[in-house]
Amino acid sequence: MKKESLYKVVSHLLSPPRGILAADESSKTCDMRFEELGIAKTLETRRQYRQLLFTTPNFAKYVSGVILFEETIRQKNDSGVLFVDLFNKTGVIPGIKVDGGLVPFDNFPDEQYTEGLDGLSERLKEFGSLGAKFAKWRCVFRIDSAKKSPSSTVIHANLGSMARYASIAQSNGIVPIVEPEVLYDGDHSIEECQDVMSQIYRVLFDSLKAYRVDLGAVILKTSMVMAGKSNENQSSPEDVARYTLDVFSRRVPKDIGGIVFLSGGQAPEQASSNLNAIAIQSKLSIPMTFSFSRALQEPALKAWLGKSENSKNAQNIFEKYLKQNSNARLGKL
Ligand code: 13P
Repeated sequence: MKKESLYKVVSHLLSPPRGILAADESSKTCDMRFEELGIAKTLETRRQYRQLLFTTPNFAKYVSGVILFEETIRQKNDSGVLFVDLFNKTGVIPGIKVDGGLVPFDNFPDEQYTEGLDGLSERLKEFGSLGAKFAKWRCVFRIDSAKKSPSSTVIHANLGSMARYASIAQSNGIVPIVEPEVLYDGDHSIEECQDVMSQIYRVLFDSLKAYRVDLGAVILKTSMVMAGKSNENQSSPEDVARYTLDVFSRRVPKDIGGIVFLSGGQAPEQASSNLNAIAIQSKLSIPMTFSFSRALQEPALKAWLGKSENSKNAQNIFEKYLKQNSNARLGKL
């Protein structure tokens, strides 16, 4: 029964034409984005901003689930209704970011480790009682060939913890999203990116198997395979799709529940075009969709600027990007 309910959540989250909104920026990250635009950095402005996103017209038409930060899962709209209850009424599934963030990895300069396993089972129980049906755990790898990073040691340490998280989440009746992000920052080539991602996925799926995680109840959240942001040869959508799908076909087991993409600092139009090319080229049976934060939110945030008189326009812009990425996941951009 537990297994069936996990599978149901996965299939709902991946159901066309929708995707997952990542709205789980920590308060710190959200404040950083507000500060850049001169928006007041308060608990209340963060609530207002999330309310603006979640009450956008046609939200539930394009969004199957929302990843929340722990602050937001307890928040309410202006009428005193919990965001989680709003979601449940419209068939949007609430999820929660549960990793404890990044810390430096000792003896490996510039590499990072994701914390958060201590007390995880209790936190998942609590978030489950607040309505979360799925969770997210992110670790981060930066490609720097001169420094031979990411190192095998840091890859193994992060993905071991990620597999342990996935097993704890499933035991608590929560679908785990595993997100080993490979950063777009850097001057690496698309081939270097593909090599690193192949290595990461080999270790990730070996670890998930070793920890006896049910792959059908796991969602992989992934970067796209592409040249780094400072490489002068930027990858075309056709190349991004070809290299990305090649890694998936070699490294991602076919029985995984689904694959969702992060946008990783790509420009919004670029992320949509790449997703569209992936949808067009994919011959895989694995369902795929978007789970963007910045590529969906950035234009709306810039239009809002923390001012209520801009809310309508910001929602129109947000709806435009939701629709655009819904079309892109279908290969119909
Ligand atoms: P971006 O789409 O901005 O990369 O964010 C997705 C995400 O969930 C990062 O953890």
